[in-house]
This record gives sequence, structure tokens and C-alpha cells, in this order.
Amino acid sequence: MANLIEIKGVTHAYRTKAGPLPVLDGLTISVPEGEFAAVVGPSGCGKSTLTRLVAGLMKPDQGEVWLHGERVTTPRKTVGMAFQNPVLLEWRTILENVILPLEIVAPSMPQKDRVARAMHLLDMVGLKGFEGKRPSELSGGMRQRASLCRAIVHKPDVLIMDEPFGALDNFTREDLWQTMRDLRAAEPFTAVLITHDLRESVFLGDQVFVLSGRPARTQMVLAVDLPADRTLDVLYQPKAQEMLHTLRDQIRIAQGRDGGAH
Ligand SMILES: Nc1ncnc2c1ncn2[C@@H]1O[C@H](COP(=O)(O)OP(=O)(O)O)[C@@H](O)[C@H]1O
Ligand SMILES: [Mg+2]
Repeated sequence: MANLIEIKGVTHAYRTKAGPLPVLDGLTISVPEGEFAAVVGPSGCGKSTLTRLVAGLMKPDQGEVWLHGERVTTPRKTVGMAFQNPVLLEWRTILENVILPLEIVAPSMPQKDRVARAMHLLDMVGLKGFEGKRPSELSGGMRQRASLCRAIVHKPDVLIMDEPFGALDNFTREDLWQTMRDLRAAEPFTAVLITHDLRESVFLGDQVFVLSGRPARTQMVLAVDLPADRTLDVLYQPKAQEMLHTLRDQIRIAQGRDGGAH
């Protein structure tokens, strides 16, 4: 299968007053079409920088980013993004927020088709009946559901998520994982999910990329050999537990604390 996302030997440093700050060091990540790549790594290692490079919001000093066989050098319309803070517009209703990307990338699409598309997604994530509310009237979990709808409403080739569930409590987060799984089954997309949560990476990922400490390189790639329609129970079974242990050890190595106490 062709790789939809190819990050090849990407090296980048930020220019700061104190001099260059190397953030990525020959980072290489390949994601086949339709697959879900989870990316974990120590805080500050360069994960958000990686999302900006894939979206074409930044150019790396060295190396290449390719999407769908095209080299990325400018911002892409075919990329959907979701962040920890959903950044919904308070002066728009939930429905109007979800429709926003269609107004930008599909200006000739009839309004009734936009509404139908947005309502279909809102229904899928359990927000039917809330379309007329303002963002501040919804819980954090509901806002993040709306934000996911907005990220995929225009059927992007690639969905990039930077710790989208990081601010939610555990149970809400697990609900969102299942919503994500169902969305993906209904509307296949290729995804890069940055997360701090190893269970999340195993539940949602087809592959988990462990980044080293800054400057980040790919320290390890774990293939998640679990069924696509996995349930939360899978996380408590030996196979997933073994993967979680492996990832935990890898994070410890990435933090430079190999063999330290738990
Ligand atoms: N625009 C910037 N200018 C200078 N330094 C930055 C900039 N953005 C991020 N950094 C620094 O680069 C490093 C990596 O940042 P980031 O990619 O946000 O890491 P992560 O998302 O893994 O926590 C951090 O030390 C951060 O302080
Ligand atoms: Mg970050």
C-alpha cells in the first residue's frame, strides 16, 4: 500500500535569542493510506512542531514532507486539524462552527448540502439536538466532539490531532476514543494523533511512533496488531498490556531514565 504521509529525514531548529534550538533530528515517519499513526514522546520533544510541518505551516531546515505523492511546501486544504483546546467560535452555533471549513474549501456547495453533511456528523458523534447551541453551552467533551466534526467535515485526506483528548477526564476520554473508532470506520481517513496517553495510542493506533527526547528522532515503531473494531476490554488483555509495557519502557529511555524507578 502506498504511504499517504511520508516524513523523510526531517531536521529542524528554531532560531531563538539564545541561538538555534534543535527540535527534530532526521525524523522519519511513514503512514499508509487509511492508517492511524499515534505519536508519543516526552514533553517538549517536538511533537507539535511535527504537526505544523505535516500541515505545511512550517518548512523544515532539512528533509522532506510528502502527502499523497506531493511535496508539502505550503499550507494544505486537504488536511484537517484538531487540538487540545477546540477553538470553536463563540459567536457561531455548533452547526455553524462545523460548517466553517466547507465555507472555505467548498464555496460553491449549496448551504443545504453543507447543513446535511454537518448534521450527519453531529448525529454520528451524539450531538444531535445541540446544533443550535453556542460552544460555551456544551461540556468539554461535547466541544471536542464538535471540533472533530469540524476537522473532518470537508473530508480531508489527512487528519492531524495534537493531544485532542488531553484536557478531558478519563471516562470522557474513553468515550471519545470509541467515537473516533466509529467515525473512522464510517469515513476512512489517514490520521496522525499526538498523545501523552499510551493506552490511547494502543486503542486508536495502527502504529505507534515513539519519539526520542529533543531533538526528536524516531526511537521505535510499534505495530499494533489488534482488531480494527477493538473495544476497551482489549486494553486489559495480555497482548495490549505487553505493548503498553514496551511503550512505557521506551518513554523511559526517551526521557533519559533507562532502568529508573517506576
Ligand atoms: N516558535 C518557536 N520558537 C522557538 N522555540 C519553540 C517554538 N515552538 C516550540 N519551541 C520549542 O521547541 C521545543 C519543541 O516544542 P513542541 O514541538 O511544541 O514540543 P511538544 O509538542 O513535543 O511538547 C520546545 O522546547 C519548545 O519550547
Ligand atoms: Mg505539543
